[in-house]
Amino acid sequence: MPAPRILILGANGGLGRALHQQFAANFETTAWGRADLDFEQPDTIGAKLVSQQFDVLLNAAGMTSPDVCEVQPERALLANVVAPQILAECCHTRGARMIHFSTDYVFSGEARDLWFEADETAPVNIYGRTKLAGEKAVLKASPGALVARVSWLFGPHKPSHPDNIIQRALQTDDLSAVVDKISVPTSNADIGGWIEQLIVRHPTTCGVLHLCNSGVASWHSWAEAALTIAAGLEMPVKTTTVQPIGLASLTQLKAPRPLMTVMSNAKLQSVLGGEIRNWYDALEEYLVQKYQPQ
Ligand SMILES: NC(=O)c1ccc[n+]([C@@H]2O[C@H](COP(=O)([O-])OP(=O)(O)OC[C@H]3O[C@@H](n4cnc5c(N)ncnc54)[C@H](OP(=O)(O)O)[C@@H]3O)[C@@H](O)[C@H]2O)c1
Repeated sequence: MPAPRILILGANGGLGRALHQQFAANFETTAWGRADLDFEQPDTIGAKLVSQQFDVLLNAAGMTSPDVCEVQPERALLANVVAPQILAECCHTRGARMIHFSTDYVFSGEARDLWFEADETAPVNIYGRTKLAGEKAVLKASPGALVARVSWLFGPHKPSHPDNIIQRALQTDDLSAVVDKISVPTSNADIGGWIEQLIVRHPTTCGVLHLCNSGVASWHSWAEAALTIAAGLEMPVKTTTVQPIGLASLTQLKAPRPLMTVMSNAKLQSVLGGEIRNWYDALEEYLVQKYQPQ
């Protein structure tokens, strides 16, 4: 059977770029950014998709900043709900599979051990509410679609928390990070590998699936892990110690944040049939490749 043709949306984002890197070599891959398909122009989406040959659509586009969503809810609705629903309808009509990325922010963040796929959702901000509505709209329009919830992404294509803290630590030893917000840092590159397996070996897996590395972190422990790895690579960071602060002290945030959104990846492990590595190992590999390339 020929390899499926892949269409990636959100091609200029952190995850979209990682997906493009994953698929470009071995699959017929097309990657579109906002200039190719604007989710805020919903009337254009159907015609644009009809003009493109693809078997699997990976939607990594969306309005991803909780603070921007909070102050621009109409735009968030278009990007995170209306456009994904139209994409799912198009995929369903032509028999293509849609893999749509969502977020751990669909959960309330109340204290508990882990969040599973079937657990009750109760987002606390507009970003989470629109992402949840997008999940539901996609699965209703295309029951064969896969909704992949991810959390705390990092990787080479877009600076995230570990990159930012290392840059700051090269300048100062006065660092702080939130200690009471926890989730699972997850490698964009690992997601690319899991998605390839889900496309090639599990073409009928559908519904909601959590795609995250194993383990748990706070923004604080994630920051100290990044600095410890950087120091081990002999980078001239001024400290590996970060002052713990509470989320409530970040008064500049416009959107409330859920505190505890650690997702279980047991279903992913069961589908793929293997261990999912810990986020620390994935972070170490990423930072070694970034700062000590062979
Ligand atoms: N990053 C995380 O930690 C995280 C955590 C949980 C879930 N997620 C989910 O993972 C997915 C990928 O996230 P990411 O980190 O790769 O996000 P990202 O870097 O912000 O990329 C999102 C992309 O969507 C594009 N986009 C935004 N509005 C658009 C519109 N109206 N029309 C077309 N394209 C539009 C952006 O285009 P421009 O480049 O032109 O702005 C950007 O390239 C999203 O579904 C997000 O909700 C991410």
